[in-house]
Amino acid sequence: MTTVTLQNLHKEFGDVVAVNGIDLEINHGEFLVIVGPSGCGKSTTLRLLAGLESTTDGRIEMGGRDVTTVEPKDRNVAMVFQNYALYPHMTGRRNITFGMKSSGDFTDEEIDRRVTEAADTLDIADLLDRKPDAMSGGERQRVALGRAIVRDPDAFLMDEPLSNLDAKLRIQMRAELARLHSTLETTTVYVTHDQTEAMTLGERVVVMNDGQIMQVDEPQVLYDFPENRFVAEFIGDPAMNMIPVDVKDGRAIHETFDIPLPSGNGQPKSNQNGAGDAQITDGQRAILGIRPEDLHLSDPQTNDELPTIDAEVNVREPLGDSLLLHCSIGNTSCNIQAEPRMPITAGETVSVTYDPARLHLFDAETGEAFYHSELRQSTDEQAPSKLTT
Ligand SMILES: Nc1ncnc2c1ncn2[C@@H]1O[C@H](COP(=O)(O)OP(=O)(O)O)[C@@H](O)[C@H]1O
Ligand SMILES: [Mg+2]
Repeated sequence: MTTVTLQNLHKEFGDVVAVNGIDLEINHGEFLVIVGPSGCGKSTTLRLLAGLESTTDGRIEMGGRDVTTVEPKDRNVAMVFQNYALYPHMTGRRNITFGMKSSGDFTDEEIDRRVTEAADTLDIADLLDRKPDAMSGGERQRVALGRAIVRDPDAFLMDEPLSNLDAKLRIQMRAELARLHSTLETTTVYVTHDQTEAMTLGERVVVMNDGQIMQVDEPQVLYDFPENRFVAEFIGDPAMNMIPVDVKDGRAIHETFDIPLPSGNGQPKSNQNGAGDAQITDGQRAILGIRPEDLHLSDPQTNDELPTIDAEVNVREPLGDSLLLHCSIGNTSCNIQAEPRMPITAGETVSVTYDPARLHLFDAETGEAFYHSELRQSTDEQAPSKLTT
């Protein structure tokens, strides 16, 4: 069992605090993605796991063993980098077997067997005799994966392995990585700045910012129940709209609209929907979050009971499968993802409705989530996302 545990992990480079107190438990066989903006400490966290950086404070356990000060070679993890890190003067085969041969732990037969197996799994048999400059980016990354696989490590640590590939190849390799994981079932920690990659690959996703964990959850839970404004705006594209409102008598009141916050009577209560510990008081200023895809142009044909919101269209962007409208609601900028082919022009004022099950409220100061209008099912069954020890 290779459960990986990070406890109160800190890493400082001089004055720079790269990792600022991370507590995380990675399950055996899990595909865990760490996502966050550039510079938030993702690579440093991964390098600490690999033993390529020493911790300033905190503890790392793998399979119950304290490895905090253990040398990288003795951790039995395999790292895959963005730039592939292949030796240019060696063939694919030599690149794959280099670490195994030099370790002296494997017989030649064992090495051959493992290379054949990995080449099979990754479909790279025809690359084994080529040098990296005769391979495409995708092929190089496959060879780099091969090098990681043959070592049969306890965990794969992958740092933006697809970032150097073009968009089409990235999507293809993404699917291959998912397939590879379901075949090998090796514990994998995968770092990316790309939220789509995180959502599609991760069994659980860790959202990081400023060296800290913002939330750990399954992808759909992150999208449906962001615990704070940072996660709400980072996950989802285009980003969630953030509209300043006053909350009074269970309604969100903006300069141009006044809508009910569904949850029975009165003001929304904290916690009942899986939001944070923040408590909203009547008359308080808050941020109403609504995703562009949860706003719709109101249809005069249907007798909608919902109140409508007036939005002035500033820019229209036809995306083919949808029409993205950049709008102003009073003084607030707001994006709406409308049906494609709607005859709407810039300068027009449109009437907008929303999905009442998809409203979010955040503390205007701390950004913490007060409330989600959808009830989160059986929070008890959620795996504990952050260690409480
Ligand atoms: N070797 C280093 N020396 C000094 N600062 C570093 C070093 N490595 C990373 N940092 C700093 O630590 C912070 C986190 O970096 P990093 O973990 O690479 O972020 P990410 O991978 O999320 O983009 C950044 O401010 C970066 O400049
Ligand atoms: Mg990085």
